[in-house]
Amino acid sequence: MHIPKRFFISGTDTDVGKTMVSAILALGLPAAYWKPIQCGNEPASDSQWLASVGVDQKFILPERYNLRNPLSPHRAAELEGVSISLDDFELPKNSAEYVIVEGAGGLMVPLNAKDMVIDLVAKLQLPLLLVARSGLGTINHTVLSIQALHQKEIPLIGVVMNGEPNPANRAAIEHYGKTKVLAEIPPIAQINKDSILQAYNESFGLKSKSSNPAAATT
Ligand SMILES: Nc1ncnc2c1ncn2[C@@H]1O[C@H](COP(=O)(O)OP(=O)(O)OP(=O)(O)O)[C@@H](O)[C@H]1O
Ligand SMILES: [Mg+2]
Repeated sequence: MHIPKRFFISGTDTDVGKTMVSAILALGLPAAYWKPIQCGNEPASDSQWLASVGVDQKFILPERYNLRNPLSPHRAAELEGVSISLDDFELPKNSAEYVIVEGAGGLMVPLNAKDMVIDLVAKLQLPLLLVARSGLGTINHTVLSIQALHQKEIPLIGVVMNGEPNPANRAAIEHYGKTKVLAEIPPIAQINKDSILQAYNESFGLKSKSSNPAAATT
């Protein structure tokens, strides 16, 4: 499996598992992580959550916007009298070999009166990894998201399905979305560094280069 050195992780919706997949790849590859727009910090921001599962703080790049309300960025920004512009975003300098950028919600989430998350992906010129739920409803959400990427000529690396494995939905996403499902992440009962590294090894089928190789084999 070829994973580009820098890529954007979006999802078919909010709460589909973008941060979980980011943590799996941040620990496994390993990779630096950047959440350019965070909306809502309770109980933790996505960056704080990555740190809590063992991603090294030096691999977590500071947010460009950290907004209080757990709302769409355009609305969260408006409530704080902030206006988000695509010109505000540039990948922070860092020395990591891999860098993951996590979006807010899905691709058509507004940042301001005219731009969406998908426009930020285009502006940063990054290929995209799409996280989808595994269960009912995912074919529609996934194929629509892929169509939007094609419209903007954004390269799709592939789809990661999160949740109870569903072979029929996997086949449908590959067929109708004309893409590859790169990994299926099953529900993780106890979320910690070891189980996340285990998910990396089992689901991505890549050998871990983690600083904690013992954990990767448990
Ligand atoms: N495979 C999994 N096993 C167990 N729990 C999971 C799994 N994937 C996600 N979760 C849990 O589901 C919730 C939502 O996941 P996550 O935060 O990764 O979604 P998200 O797409 O990043 O959401 P947001 O749009 O808010 O950034 C979290 O509490 C996360 O820990
Ligand atoms: Mg998230």
